[in-house]
Amino acid sequence: MADPFQDVDAAGADFITMFADAMDMRQSDPTMEAIVADYLDRLDQTDVTRIVEIGAGAGAVSRRIAARFPVARVTGFEPSEGFVKEARSRAAGVDNLSFEVADGAALPVAEDSVDAVVIHTVLSHVTDPFPILKEALRVLRPGGRIAVCDADFSKGSFASFPNDPLDSLARTFVSDFVTDAYIVGKLRGLLTGVGLAVDHFQLWNRLTDGAPMMLPWVEVTTKQMVERGQIGAGLRDALIEEHNRRVAAKTLYGFQLFATAIGTKPQM
Ligand SMILES: C[S@@+](CC[C@H](N)C(=O)[O-])C[C@H]1O[C@@H](n2cnc3c(N)ncnc32)[C@H](O)[C@@H]1O
Repeated sequence: MADPFQDVDAAGADFITMFADAMDMRQSDPTMEAIVADYLDRLDQTDVTRIVEIGAGAGAVSRRIAARFPVARVTGFEPSEGFVKEARSRAAGVDNLSFEVADGAALPVAEDSVDAVVIHTVLSHVTDPFPILKEALRVLRPGGRIAVCDADFSKGSFASFPNDPLDSLARTFVSDFVTDAYIVGKLRGLLTGVGLAVDHFQLWNRLTDGAPMMLPWVEVTTKQMVERGQIGAGLRDALIEEHNRRVAAKTLYGFQLFATAIGTKPQM
């Protein structure tokens, strides 16, 4: 099955609302907040006045960027009209932030005009990251920086013991909702491949044990399994109940590995 993040509008209104909420919840997680705060600090050079986020979704990270750089003009570009609508409504009143519908490989932005670019959990959802990174390089000014953050979905897990039934949902999420589960291992090569100098690369562990941060993984996978006739509603309810039981008992092992790569566009 194709990763629905490749064409979010085709996935439908329920998907858009569910993942807009899920991405807001993920961004409020202290580990994710620390990851984003760290890479935004690394983008903070003198005179950062123009920042672009590629694949902004419903704007969870864009709002964070706009708050961190209040004097900069921040634009979130996103191919899904549904997500852009959500993003605009969730950012109402944030004066230095706007959203536009655009594919990451064709931004309506002048060459050499941007101080910083952010790409957050997008490249794991595209078949070819190269045109997006080339476009980021084009719009960046010489000396401008890019932060690419993504998950190594190949290492994501719910497993607390061998053949843990809950872990089958983590495997299903990766096969049905991710395009490249191994993107993190390729990041440095991709950035240098388009001509960016990689200044920093860091791995981050994210463990969600006491909060329902990964509930969307459980809900969407079991929903699809029921729709496909693979399982019945009883097993769906039992798996969700088991997830919630572990969250309440603080025994859920919801593990994800994230990476951040910071690149700089070379001076002429
Ligand atoms: C998991 S979401 C992340 C959204 C947002 N960056 C966040 O972290 O809240 C992945 C996003 O990548 C976007 N996307 C998929 N293909 C894209 C492309 N070719 N160019 C730009 N964005 C793309 C999707 O529409 C979706 O909004």
